[in-house]
Amino acid sequence: MARVALVTGGTRGIGEAISVALRDAGFTVAANYGGNEKNAQEFSARTGIPVFKWDVGDFAACQAGIAAVEKELGPVDVLVNNAGITRDTPMHKMSAEQWEAVIRTNLSSCFYMCRSVLDGMRARGYGRIVNISSLNGQAGQFGQTNYSAAKAGVLGFTKALAQEGAAKGITVNAICPGYTDTEMVRAVPEAVLGMLIKKIPVGRLCSASEIGRAVVFLAADEAGFITGSTLSVNGGQICY
Ligand code: CAA
Repeated sequence: MARVALVTGGTRGIGEAISVALRDAGFTVAANYGGNEKNAQEFSARTGIPVFKWDVGDFAACQAGIAAVEKELGPVDVLVNNAGITRDTPMHKMSAEQWEAVIRTNLSSCFYMCRSVLDGMRARGYGRIVNISSLNGQAGQFGQTNYSAAKAGVLGFTKALAQEGAAKGITVNAICPGYTDTEMVRAVPEAVLGMLIKKIPVGRLCSASEIGRAVVFLAADEAGFITGSTLSVNGGQICY
């Protein structure tokens, strides 16, 4: 039987590419989405991947959402924590709401989601968790104290949970995409984006499918000895 993979924020941007890459690799995929109904329905019609709506920044919603996925598709063996938002602004202009929204959606969601699948993974002695962090969690980014803090937090979270999961067959890894060709990055002011691209040695944005490929690598049964690691996919921009 195909393993079940759940991708948060799995209907758009990097998440869409991850969902499709996992489907193409033979997984039964469920894609979570937060709000864009029309996009989610179009994605599902186009890909044949079922979609499930809930807010990953809400613990009770995560528990109910995962129960719905498992009822329809079976136990979740692969969890990809991909959902994320930006509220970019320099710290001196940042509101508490902008700080909290990003921490909740990008970091607390990892706890809410992992906590909700962990008992099942431990009982079955198998799990693959892939957390999508960011180059900007490694390096920091002007205008992103909230986002950089959340994404750096994801890296610590990943390493700690990896230690807890290791004896139970559960691997936990992080991927740090660099600037990737998605709506989120296209929202960066053009002049700023031009400067950012100049700093990428490969000389272009990452394509979302290149992140999908990295997720498939870490989600495989054969990846059982890779845990607690951070895989940078950033066109040579940073090397740790
Ligand atoms: N480094 C140093 N100074 C910078 C700077 C930078 N990177 N960017 C802007 N500044 C300076 C400006 O030159 C300006 O200086 P002056 O006041 O002397 O003219 C000052 O900071 C204020 O700049 P803005 O007028 O642009 O300020 P703003 O409040 O209108 O906007 C911003 C600031 C929202 C942060 C905008 O610069 C921006 O969107 N930057 C891009 C942030 C970014 O990279 N986001 C990544 C999104 S994609 C993503 O997050 C995915 C991922 O994981 C990689």
